[in-house]
Amino acid sequence: MFQIKNITMIYDMEKTEKIYALGGFDLTLPDKGLIGIIGPSGSGKSTLMYCLSTLKRPTDGEILYNGRELTALKDNERENLRRNEFGFVFQRHFLVPYMSAVDNVLVAAAKCDAAAAGRARELLSSFGLGDREFGKRPSKLSGGQRQRTAIARAMINTPKVLFADEPTAALDHENAFTVMEILKEYAVENLVLVITHDRSILKGADRIIEMWDGCLTAADSRL
Ligand SMILES: Nc1ncnc2c1ncn2[C@@H]1O[C@H](COP(=O)(O)OP(=O)(O)O)[C@@H](O)[C@H]1O
Ligand SMILES: [Mg+2]
Repeated sequence: MFQIKNITMIYDMEKTEKIYALGGFDLTLPDKGLIGIIGPSGSGKSTLMYCLSTLKRPTDGEILYNGRELTALKDNERENLRRNEFGFVFQRHFLVPYMSAVDNVLVAAAKCDAAAAGRARELLSSFGLGDREFGKRPSKLSGGQRQRTAIARAMINTPKVLFADEPTAALDHENAFTVMEILKEYAVENLVLVITHDRSILKGADRIIEMWDGCLTAADSRL
């Protein structure tokens, strides 16, 4: 569970014209469920996600994750937290071009043993990739298959929190729908945060957070 207290993020601190990417707000997020974060480009969505996932440190404010203050963690503690509890999906898949689909999933495994290899295959097949695709390099997969491989990679360590920044932005409607179905299913037992500027993909989200200019305009709106 995340508790955000008065979070601020200022880029270009040393310049006279400061950019307030996050303008100081409170927010509490639950342990489970699909939470959509929606807002126009530049409204601070990615910055919020990077702060929650410890990829960035806010300028001011507190972020508690299960009672632990994230900004107080040492570098190696943050790395362990990311590796063990968080998963990431981005707009671009960032798969390794010379590795097979299975190896791309396995590369993120905390422990690369036979069980992990089995889980990698299970994940890929549950996302509709067949045996024929397991050995293929990303360039031989379709766009939708690549993104589903990236999601399998993000889930290999069964993260408690899955962060997805515009995960469907590069996909057609059908593939976007499939990806959202996968994320919704995962959100039954875990927290899934999906950033988007396309409201239509958030049908069935448990909660929608709206951002505008670094602030929350609505923290509890539903479709
Ligand atoms: N590394 C950075 N340096 C300076 N400004 C940044 C940086 N990253 C983002 N910004 C600015 O912060 C604001 C919020 O950006 P971002 O969080 O990426 O928004 P969104 O994801 O909603 O498009 C924007 O004005 C953006 O230009
Ligand atoms: Mg963004």
